[in-house]
Amino acid sequence: LDNGLAITPQMGWDTWNSFACSLNETVILDAAKKIVSLGFRDLGYEYVVLDDCWSAGRNSSGYLVPNKEKFPNGISDLADKIHASGLKIGIYSSAGTMTCARYAGSLGYEEKDAAVWASWGIDYLKYDNCYNQGEEGTPKLSFDRYNKMGKALNVTGRPILYSLCNWGVDGPWNFAPTIANSWRTSGDLSNVWDREDVNCPCQEKEGIDCKLPGYHCSVMNVLNKAVYYPSKAIPGAWNDLDMLQVGNGGLTDEEAKAHFSLRAALKSPPLMTNVMTKTDAPTLSILQNTAVLAVSQDPLGSSANRIWRYYVDDVDSNGKGEIQLFSGPLSGGDQLALFLNAGSEDRNMNASLVDIFWEDGADGTAQQIGYSWDIHDLWANRMSNETANAIINGMASGSNGTMNMTAMGGARKVYS
Ligand code: DGJ
Repeated sequence: LDNGLAITPQMGWDTWNSFACSLNETVILDAAKKIVSLGFRDLGYEYVVLDDCWSAGRNSSGYLVPNKEKFPNGISDLADKIHASGLKIGIYSSAGTMTCARYAGSLGYEEKDAAVWASWGIDYLKYDNCYNQGEEGTPKLSFDRYNKMGKALNVTGRPILYSLCNWGVDGPWNFAPTIANSWRTSGDLSNVWDREDVNCPCQEKEGIDCKLPGYHCSVMNVLNKAVYYPSKAIPGAWNDLDMLQVGNGGLTDEEAKAHFSLRAALKSPPLMTNVMTKTDAPTLSILQNTAVLAVSQDPLGSSANRIWRYYVDDVDSNGKGEIQLFSGPLSGGDQLALFLNAGSEDRNMNASLVDIFWEDGADGTAQQIGYSWDIHDLWANRMSNETANAIINGMASGSNGTMNMTAMGGARKVYS
């Protein structure tokens, strides 16, 4: 969406995965304080988003009102406080008659809701897909329903980042780029790496309520769905693979690094959802890896492509392991390569230059083959040709010019 926002993927923190319906003013202000004091704000994490369950319904004039117990001072006051700490504030609703947690939805109230949010000083809307009254099933139906809110936000005159949360339904990567700043590519990401033991997309069955968090897609599910749409992402309009599960306890540190790297490569908005006040050292170092964030926020805004995917070895009770290579251009002529080892053991992974420079490699000769290389390992924070050999065998030579090569390591799956 050409509204001047999310020129690079939006960064921030959202209440849902850690707090669900127990969000309140204290939780949010405590998180905001930590976002500042731990240095997240200065790295670009700027939006603090109130997810579902903030509202108490509508007043007699049809305007949304906040839950008084959760927000005794109102949301306008909260917005002032968030703004005073140098952050921005987001809110949530659904393009349906109710939100997923059954609070008032915005379908049919788009202009009133946009106007009230703007009057409170809201900077961001996450717009869900629950209770949509069957207005989906074709891209046009989804487009029309989401476009109503997009127009209403525009009418307010306030810059409000517009983030669709329609779980990939009707192909938002096709219908949403002109009306929204981002769109979800799949159902909710659970706090698990593996492909099994999860229910993706969520199927209602006994004991499973798909409206609640926790029963949805794994990191690998979401990744393997999203890899088909990288070219749809452009500055101002991003594929959203759902929020980061870094720091939420379900991933090993190596898995969390891989998850974070993949999101950066695919330009999925880095939105944290951890309990900020309990951020531990590994979580901090992953979410604050400036080299990886620089890939996420690279001004070229070009999402990496998956070049190959192979099933490998080991088969544990969860099925096959797999390895994948991603590559894509970065600004300044740099190139990103990401090796994902989602197998059960350490392995050397190799890729040819033709693999990595796929655009130039179509005729079987990669133009850059004779260049000399500066290799940056974004997790080791070092730059050397030795690292190159460790990461990309046989690529650190040549003399016909220079080009920087950026690689992300740290992508090893460890089964316990
Ligand atoms: C479904 C969304 O996908 C989640 O991210 C969250 O916003 C919940 N709804 C809230 O009910």
